[in-house]
Amino acid sequence: MKVANTINDLRQIVIDYKNNLQTIALVPTMGNLHCGHLALVKEAKKAAQKVVVSIFVNPMQFDKTEDLVNYPRTLEDDLKLLEKEGVDAVFTPTPEVMYPQGIGLQSYIEVPDLCNSLEGQLRPGHFRGVATVVSKLFNIVQPNYACFGLKDYQQVALIKEMVRDLNFQIKIIEVPIVRHEDGLAYSSRNNRLNQAERSIAPKLHLAISELAAKIKALPNLNDLEDVIEETINNIDNYGFKTDDLTIVDAITLSPDIKNSSQVVILVAAYLGKVRLIDNLVVDRTK
Ligand code: PAJ
Repeated sequence: MKVANTINDLRQIVIDYKNNLQTIALVPTMGNLHCGHLALVKEAKKAAQKVVVSIFVNPMQFDKTEDLVNYPRTLEDDLKLLEKEGVDAVFTPTPEVMYPQGIGLQSYIEVPDLCNSLEGQLRPGHFRGVATVVSKLFNIVQPNYACFGLKDYQQVALIKEMVRDLNFQIKIIEVPIVRHEDGLAYSSRNNRLNQAERSIAPKLHLAISELAAKIKALPNLNDLEDVIEETINNIDNYGFKTDDLTIVDAITLSPDIKNSSQVVILVAAYLGKVRLIDNLVVDRTK
């Protein structure tokens, strides 16, 4: 497995793959890897002959400095895991490599509506940072495929729109959420939960699963306020503090869902200081 920490070194590796007519799948990550990330790597391996993983804690997408500083950095362990998975190359740039002019002078990408709606409204600048760093990685690697997890539902929607709007010739592979047996979605943030919080954490998935069952049973989607409020109360009674619970169209992410056949429940809730997110798609045709 090759490890590159400069753009030139990575480009050289990629040029060799391309000269050999090998297809490339890119898996962008911020490291501190777990089973969720590894599921993306496995899909990447299925799709392409060469797999490139990036590990970069992207300062541009953090709306709170404290979160950036405290983000877990476990590069040595990450590299071991990736080696085991048979990854071909890992890109581990520093912020100076990615943003030599500093973030303030960096050109940026914004995807209309999606950057500033829903989660974007709660975390100003976050999706601009995501779209910008992913477009830089796309330009550096020029992969045939790129894998993203549905754990970050809005992120996937935003990347797909960016790819369409900016004519990136890259097929986006969407990977389902990987969960612990008790239902909690794998996340780097789970490590920050204490024992008591960890035992409460799976209830977030339980609450939205119950909400999904209720939505399926409703004759129409005209008035969801009551069921939403009930779910927020349930989540808060479990010990969370709900930050946001929204139901939008699963394809467009529009709040107008009267005629939607598929909707997605998006939830963000604090457990102590840790903000957990989860989501569930509800298919009303089945
Ligand atoms: P990060 O949080 O490290 O996640 C990297 C990728 O792993 C994302 O596509 C995310 O959706 C996916 N992922 C995380 N947990 C998952 C789970 N439990 N099941 C399935 N997929 C999961 O998302 C980012 O980094 C960054 O925003 C990034 C795209 C790398 C840009 O900086």
